[in-house]
Formats: sequence, C-alpha cells, structure tokens
Amino acid sequence: MATWKDSSYWSLWLLLPLFVGFCSPVCVEVPSGTEAVQGHNMTLLCISCMQREEVFAITNVEWYYEPKNGIGNRSLIYELFEGKHIKPKSQFNGRLQWIGSKDLQDVSIILHNVTVTDSGKFVCQVNRTLRYEAHQHSTQSSLEISLTVNAVAREDFTSVLSEIMMYILLAFLTLWLLVEIVYCYRKISKAEEVTQESV
Ligand SMILES: *[C@@H]1O[C@H](CO)[C@@H](O)[C@H](O)[C@H]1NC(C)=O
Ligand SMILES: *[C@@H]1O[C@H](CO)[C@@H](O)[C@H](O)[C@H]1NC(C)=O
Ligand SMILES: *[C@@H]1O[C@H](CO)[C@@H](O)[C@H](O)[C@H]1NC(C)=O
Ligand SMILES: *[C@@H]1O[C@H](CO)[C@@H](O)[C@H](O)[C@H]1NC(C)=O
Repeated sequence: MATWKDSSYWSLWLLLPLFVGFCSPVCVEVPSGTEAVQGHNMTLLCISCMQREEVFAITNVEWYYEPKNGIGNRSLIYELFEGKHIKPKSQFNGRLQWIGSKDLQDVSIILHNVTVTDSGKFVCQVNRTLRYEAHQHSTQSSLEISLTVNAVAREDFTSVLSEIMMYILLAFLTLWLLVEIVYCYRKISKAEEVTQESV
C-alpha cells in the first residue's frame, strides 16, 4: 500500500539537494512540525535568521515548555548562555539534544522518545546582543511550537483517499487496456478472415 507514497518521498529527497544547493547562502525560517508519535524522536525546529550586522552578536537561546493544561506555567528546559549549554531539571531530563548550527541561526533541539504527556507548547527565545564601546543593543525573537503527541501513527485522511483513487485509476486503466487488446485482436482476426475469403 505504501509504494505510491514512498515514491513521492523519494522524489522529494531527490529534489532536496537542489534546494540546498540554491539556497545555502540564504537563511530560511522553516516552520517546525507540530505532530509527533509516541516513542519517536521529535525535532523542535527553530530557525532565527540574522541581520547582516548581527554576525558578531552574542547569541543566547532559551527553550521553554508549557504543558497543555498548565496555561501560563512556563518552565525553562534548555539554555545556551554565553556558549554554555545548560539543561535545567525537567520532565525532559536526558532527552533533549542540541542540533543547532554553528552560526546560531538554527537553534533547534531534538526531543528523544516523546510521550503523550510531552504535548504542549514549546517556546524558543533567541536574544542577540551587539556590544559597542559605550553601550549594547539586543534584539529578541521568539517562536512557539504547539506539539501534539499521538499514541499511534495516524494516517492522513487525504493521503489515504488519494491512494485509493490511484488504485481505482490503475484498475480502470488495466481493464480499458484489456478491452482494447481484445477488441483489436477481434478486428485483426476478422480482417484476416476477410482477406482469406477473398483469396
Ligand atoms: C531516537 O534517537 C536515538 C538516539 O539518537 C536513537 O537511538 C533512536 O533510534 C531514535 N529513535 C527513532 C524512532 O528514530
Ligand atoms: C506549575 O508547575 C509546577 C512545577 O512543575 C507545579 O508544581 C504546579 O502545580 C504547576 N501549576 C499549575 C497551575 O499547573
Ligand atoms: C521511552 O520511554 C518509555 C516510557 O517513558 C520507556 O519505557 C522506554 O524504555 C523509552 N525508550 C527508550 C529507547 O529510551
Ligand atoms: C539578552 O542578552 C543580553 C546579554 O546577555 C542581556 O543583557 C539582556 O538582558 C538579554 N535580554 C533578554 C530579554 O533576555
């Protein structure tokens, strides 16, 4: 059943190097996925592009978590402060891994082995500070990811529907081909009969 989807994934992967090739000097703020499956690893993607003048800025990153039913109860779960990685005690102990880029435009983390109770809001806050001789200037940006963790992999309804349509189309085309072959065969053999009679 998965062959059609597999092939579309494959074509995506084939296209990917093209995109990367074209876009590598440009920072693109791609939104994070928001659905995870229990027991899998989830990438919490946070890309915060820098202004040209921020190349020499000091970047500090904070990741917060707010449980689904604990509105406003936000806690710090990961921090990058002046180059040091800090993991405060939380329900994610030992399950968070930094996968950000060296230039700190990508400040993503991976959450390993997600559970249903990890559902909630993740906030990535990026603080860039430029130090001048007499003063400093900071800019902040933050991004929210509302994560939903499903107990089992849920198949997308539209993709199932398009898969079914594909198979119906395939069956129809095969049938049509068969009818055509039989029709042609009859026509040819009839024509042969006629030529044989006329000889
Ligand atoms: C999740 O990450 C861990 C550690 O990198 C790896 O061993 C494991 O295979 C991954 N699990 C899945 C479902 O990808
Ligand atoms: C907020 O979180 C703390 C620590 O996890 C917990 O003890 C407290 O009950 C929570 N409060 C609410 C309103 O959810
Ligand atoms: C994932 O978490 C579950 C429950 O939290 C635990 O039983 C299981 O051993 C964990 N799996 C891995 C690979 O850490
Ligand atoms: C951003 O970082 C600078 C330098 O580390 C600090 O002085 C400033 O208070 C920070 N701002 C926020 C909103 O965290």
